[in-house]
Amino acid sequence: MSTTDLRDDGRAIEPGYAIDVQKLNKRFGDKHVVNDVSLRVAHGEIFGFLGPNGSGKTTSIRMMCGLLTPDSGSGTCLGYDIRRDSEQIKRNVGYMTQRFSYWEDLTIRENLDFVARIYEMPNRREAVDRALESLGLASRASQLTGALSGGWKQRLALAACMLHEPKLLLLDEPTAGVDPNARRDFWEELHRLAARGISVLVSTHYMDEAERCHKLAYIAYGKLLAQGSAADIIASQDLQTWAIHGEQLTALSTQLRAMPGVDQTVVFGSVLHASGRDHAALAAAIERVSAGRSLRTERIGTGLEDVFIYLMSHVADNYGAAS
Ligand SMILES: Nc1ncnc2c1ncn2[C@@H]1O[C@H](COP(=O)(O)OP(=O)(O)O)[C@@H](O)[C@H]1O
Ligand SMILES: [Mg+2]
Repeated sequence: MSTTDLRDDGRAIEPGYAIDVQKLNKRFGDKHVVNDVSLRVAHGEIFGFLGPNGSGKTTSIRMMCGLLTPDSGSGTCLGYDIRRDSEQIKRNVGYMTQRFSYWEDLTIRENLDFVARIYEMPNRREAVDRALESLGLASRASQLTGALSGGWKQRLALAACMLHEPKLLLLDEPTAGVDPNARRDFWEELHRLAARGISVLVSTHYMDEAERCHKLAYIAYGKLLAQGSAADIIASQDLQTWAIHGEQLTALSTQLRAMPGVDQTVVFGSVLHASGRDHAALAAAIERVSAGRSLRTERIGTGLEDVFIYLMSHVADNYGAAS
């Protein structure tokens, strides 16, 4: 990003990070919901924020954009201080909350116009036209929102949070409950936006979406367990994985897990994954278990999902019961 880009207040955007937060903490009552979360999102990057329900994604996002004050920790969003500058952050960030609400009996255009009025935007008509155009909604502008499919509603939600041309989008589970085709379209849209230099932090609990992000962070029980590119995260755990095809995989899974060298087994539909850090012991276990059985076994690349399950089970041992 060039240093000639200007923010709304005329100051140049410093080279650096769209989001840069350190050691954020938040407790609700005696529940430690966000625990020392540090995270960096580079400009123009699509950053995936993954984790199961209740892991602290929404709470973290709200702290990152200045809507919720952390108990401790600090950081910046688009160079603005998350504790002090929430007004400026609001003006420069597009935040799509988990439950975007719109009027079912208004058209797409009317809904966008309504949002623009709430935010008292100047040049409302122009802003709405631009958002309709840039998200491919122009030809549907006069359709009633209530009749739209989930995918088009998500696109409307995205248009609504882009009316003020934000440089950073914070999207909180935008594809939850959206069908696979619409999810694919939505991700293509995110990549088009990123190509225009817009930074995106997107939370999801769909593992397959991780592969579509430039960088990822994985959170469970309020703790960030991994951060980096998918390849970096996979490499960091040094797990080897075998795929096993055959009958009675659940019983086999139990048997394998009791064997030395097998740190984890997961059944994915009709295939069993067995992973471990001691590669030789793992290979020996696979050989022993398949002796005299009609199983097909093969070494495969460890996937992100294997790694996330591995990280999650380790943190669960330490934090799961306590929180
Ligand atoms: N305002 C609040 N008061 C009390 N507990 C909350 C509040 N907001 C969130 N929580 C709790 O904090 C945990 C993390 O929530 P959240 O950040 O919404 O997770 P996620 O977005 O990953 O599903 C959950 O257990 C949730 O019930
Ligand atoms: Mg959430």
